[in-house]
Amino acid sequence: MADRYLHFTGTAPGRFLTRRLGLPQPAPLRRRTAEHPVFEGQLLHFTAGPSTHRAELSRLLARTGLQVRGSVSGRAQPQHPVGVVVDATAVDDLERLAEVHAALHPVVRSVAASGRVIVLGAPLSPDDHHQAAAQQALEGFVRSLGKEIGRGRTVNLVRVAGAVAAAETTLRFLLSPRSAYVSGQVMEVGATEEEPALPAEWTRPLAGRTALVTGAARGIGEAVAETLVRDGAQVVLLDVPSAEAELAAVAERLGGRALPLDITAEDAGERIAEFTSASGGLDVVVHNAGITRDRRLANMDAARWRAVLEVNLASVLRTTDTLLKAGAVRRGGAIVTTASIAGIAGNTGQTNYAASKAGVIGLVRALAPHALAEHGVTVNAVAPGFIETKMTAAVPLVIREAGRRMNSLGQGGLPVDVAETTAWLACAGSGAVNGQVVRVCGQSLLGA
Ligand SMILES: NC(=O)c1ccc[n+]([C@@H]2O[C@H](COP(=O)([O-])OP(=O)(O)OC[C@H]3O[C@@H](n4cnc5c(N)ncnc54)[C@H](O)[C@@H]3O)[C@@H](O)[C@H]2O)c1
Repeated sequence: MADRYLHFTGTAPGRFLTRRLGLPQPAPLRRRTAEHPVFEGQLLHFTAGPSTHRAELSRLLARTGLQVRGSVSGRAQPQHPVGVVVDATAVDDLERLAEVHAALHPVVRSVAASGRVIVLGAPLSPDDHHQAAAQQALEGFVRSLGKEIGRGRTVNLVRVAGAVAAAETTLRFLLSPRSAYVSGQVMEVGATEEEPALPAEWTRPLAGRTALVTGAARGIGEAVAETLVRDGAQVVLLDVPSAEAELAAVAERLGGRALPLDITAEDAGERIAEFTSASGGLDVVVHNAGITRDRRLANMDAARWRAVLEVNLASVLRTTDTLLKAGAVRRGGAIVTTASIAGIAGNTGQTNYAASKAGVIGLVRALAPHALAEHGVTVNAVAPGFIETKMTAAVPLVIREAGRRMNSLGQGGLPVDVAETTAWLACAGSGAVNGQVVRVCGQSLLGA
């Protein structure tokens, strides 16, 4: 169901009318296209306090191809920069926190439409409550700026626990049109001893990787498969046998292999391992298949409860266990699960769905450190907000319209937004991103 309001506000009369009436004015988002795969223009780099990352971060940012300017607080004369990066990793008291304000205050208005503000933070110290206060303060700062900045611009906080080099794929993702619908997020890049396995070609960061995508016959799963292929991966597409024809069509279009299989089958994990072992195993597993069976709890029978928990959570637990135990996911691999903002905020009529998606988040947080230590595999979740798919087209109009507008970007996301986030988490260079739940929700007001 197309977003006619977004289209209307993109026209001159629509802009005039909605401004006069004080209605929301969502900006068209700049997404990745083949002609414009990356941003071009100026990037401002500021440092608050004596950051040890300064030189390394400068080199990293220069590699993005953007023109990097400014390294001291607030003095650069920007000309509509497409991005601003503030290194606040050394912020450990309120005086240094004020440097973040000083850096951004003079330039924020000039950031280009669909531009990016990224604040780099440090993990909170358990032994220094002044540092912890100042670092936690960055979350309130980033989330508030995300809500007020407008014009399709996004604001995110990346906590860097070790060397900043481990954050390269994350910073490139956030500083590109691929992260159009990711805003108001806090993500952590862990400390690793290993050098990040950066791609030989940044245009094909998944070259040489094989990915399984469940629920790939349509919607978000289809977009994920398409994006992974665009980024160089080979794909195995799984969906229910009743969707075999659609699945085969998608597989043919993308040059992937179709695996018609109900993911809730007891032996689904073994069948996937068997199917993929012939071609050398898997590097990436995307657990995307999901269903809803909405009813308020008082009207929800056991069948609705069981169906949703089975597809969205039990099968994810079971196949993940089987695939890891069988060594079917190669070292350096990635498991990306699909949660939902309903699993964070809850939603009327969705006790089953929200329980299943919250369960996915629990799985990710507990399994991530073990899977990395024992199998060399990362485990993360994407948590979509309102995404324009068949699932949300079935939502009644008023609720659908509320879902679309109640986020900082004033519009629904597209399947490709979830897919781009998945692709970032799936690449070998993102090995230091583990146990994260990244919302792709335009900074939804729900579940903030
Ligand atoms: N669309 C949204 O706004 C939104 C928001 C939050 C989370 N999500 C999640 O994103 C994922 C994809 O959602 P979508 O909107 O593309 O849904 P969709 O209904 O369009 O597609 C889901 C796909 O999963 C497949 N599937 C269902 N049960 C299966 C099973 N037992 N075995 C194998 N495949 C199965 C379906 O056949 C379908 O092709 C789901 O996990 C959903 O919960 C979606």
